[in-house]
Amino acid sequence: MEELQKLILAQGEVINDEIIKVDSFINHQIDPVLMDKIGKNFAAQFKEQKVTKVATIESSGIAPALMTAKELNVPLIILKKEPSKYLNSDLYQTEVYSFTHQKNYELTVSQKYISEDDHILLIDDFLADGEAAVGALRLFHKAHATTAGVGVIINKVFQPGETKLKELGIDVVSLVKIKSLTNKTITFD
Ligand code: G4P
Ligand code: NA
Ligand code: NA
Repeated sequence: MEELQKLILAQGEVINDEIIKVDSFINHQIDPVLMDKIGKNFAAQFKEQKVTKVATIESSGIAPALMTAKELNVPLIILKKEPSKYLNSDLYQTEVYSFTHQKNYELTVSQKYISEDDHILLIDDFLADGEAAVGALRLFHKAHATTAGVGVIINKVFQPGETKLKELGIDVVSLVKIKSLTNKTITFD
């Protein structure tokens, strides 16, 4: 999305060689008109996939995922991050390691909301190391659901997330690909 590239160049703050802040339109303040366009873009790219539910990981993925779900006319499921080792028999859960936060957490979803009848589209704001996304796919698998694909607003292609997902045979749609953030310079792919 060209509009997103322009916003990233104008308002994105490169924190270091790996992290870019986009607080003014995605992560802190949200631009609803932009999110609506993002949802329509993801929905158009996955419309042939017979998606039954959209899923995201709390919390920054919720805005783009909700817009996508509205456009596809399916429910949105929010996967929760619980403290590690939280046990509950009514949940599907899987441990995820966060490189950014350097700790493990349990990604969880109620067994009520995903079943073998579901074909799920995962939407998130960033794709970085991909551990959260791969964890989400493990949850879908535990529920005997299938994965329609993964859509991310910003894919940092210099990190291994996309490669990990493609190795699992997953279709990845990225609205913007960032190739490098070195020397405080944003380079798109
Ligand atoms: P991974 O899932 O790809 O392995 O990544 P990781 O756990 O390391 O990511 C931790 C958090 O950092 C995630 O949000 C992710 O969306 C976010 N993130 C990753 N790269 C960037 C970046 O360059 N800029 C910004 N602004 N965020 C980034 P979270 O903390 O899990 O949750 P939330 O923000 O969705 O609540
Ligand atoms: Na997120
Ligand atoms: Na985030």
